[in-house]
Formats: sequence, structure tokens, C-alpha cells
Amino acid sequence: MVRDLILKNRSYRRFYQEAAIELETLRELVDLARLSASAGNRQPLKYILSCHPEKNALIFQQLAWAAYLKDWPGPSEGERPSAYIIILGDTEVSRQFLCDHGIAAQSILLGATERGLGGCMIASIKVDGLRKALSIPPRYEIMLVLALGKPKEKVVIESVGADGDIKYWRDSNSVHHVPKRRLDEIIIG
Ligand SMILES: Cc1cc2nc3c(=O)[nH]c(=O)nc-3n(C[C@H](O)[C@H](O)[C@H](O)COP(=O)(O)O)c2cc1C
Repeated sequence: MVRDLILKNRSYRRFYQEAAIELETLRELVDLARLSASAGNRQPLKYILSCHPEKNALIFQQLAWAAYLKDWPGPSEGERPSAYIIILGDTEVSRQFLCDHGIAAQSILLGATERGLGGCMIASIKVDGLRKALSIPPRYEIMLVLALGKPKEKVVIESVGADGDIKYWRDSNSVHHVPKRRLDEIIIG
């Protein structure tokens, strides 16, 4: 079952924007992150939640989507995320966040997938712009933005071919293809 959930938990970038996500759902998802592993159990991560169109629009402007899809500027109006969870590192708790934010992000996205939602981790963030737009105090480092919504696209996993190209691509039906390396390639000993 974990494998099924992980297979389903793809990076989605086009959504049914009109499908609202409740604040309580976002709180439940952050609770999964709260219960996850943290280096030294320091738990330095803090979160900003957004599920209202105005706040969502402010966040959307500060994100970059799908760098390999050169001709695609990101989801158009109507296909944008209906919610976001911004993961912050609280420097007054710790200066080192190690991989806490990655673990938190995965817990949240698996929880979203279980609920029939989907999302995308976004690290390409205009951090100064986002900080200003949401008045995020300097003590918080902006680590990741999780875009969330009801997925509107099909994503399929492929094997990396002989040319070794790992770039994802979209076919003529807008199906998104993601090449993954073979197990034998990544287990080296
Ligand atoms: C740390 C991290 C940062 C990412 N940042 C971005 C990003 O800024 N923009 C984006 O469109 N996708 C981003 N992604 C999504 C990756 O492109 C995606 O995970 C990859 O293409 C594999 O697809 P999959 O998640 O469906 O397996 C990020 C993923 C991770 C793990």
C-alpha cells in the first residue's frame, strides 16, 4: 500500500482550481509533518497555510514551474493550485534544518495523495518577493512551497533510456512523462 501511495504521489502542476481545499485539511496535513522525523528532534519547521484565492495569487506569482518544459510558463488561470503550504525554518529554534523540510514535504504530499489531492514541491521561489508579499519575518528561512490541488493532469513514470536523459516531458495529449533511473543503476553495492 505504501508503494501504491508513492506511485500515485507524482508532482502535479495542473489542477481543478475551483476545487477548494479547506483550511482544516491543510492543518491535518501539517499534523502529518509534525509527527514526522526531525534531526535531533529539534522540530524547527513552521508553516504558512493558504487556501484563499487572494493569498494564493500572491504566492503563485513568486514560483517557477517545470524548468524542463521550456515552452510552458506554468499553470494558467483555472488550472492553478487551490492551496499552498509554505515550509519555513525557524532560525530561533535551529540554524540547521538538514533534511527536515524534505521529510515534512513528503509526509504532507502523501497525506494529500491519500485524500485524492495532489501537489508539487517547489524550491524555485523568489524568496525576497514571497517574504515581502506575505510579510514573513526575517527569523524564518523560506525552505519550500508545496502547491496543492485536485490534479487535472496525468503523470506517468518511464524508465530512463540509454541516452541517460532524466528530463520530464509532455506529449501531444499533455500527458506528463517522468523518467526514473532503474533500480540496478542506483544500488551500487
Ligand atoms: C526539493 C525539490 C524541489 C523541487 N522544485 C520544483 C520547482 O521549483 N518547480 C517545479 O515545477 N517542480 C519542482 N520539483 C518537482 C520535481 O521536478 C519532480 O519531483 C521531478 O520532476 C520528479 O517527478 P515526480 O515528483 O512526479 O517523481 C521539486 C522537487 C523537489 C524534490
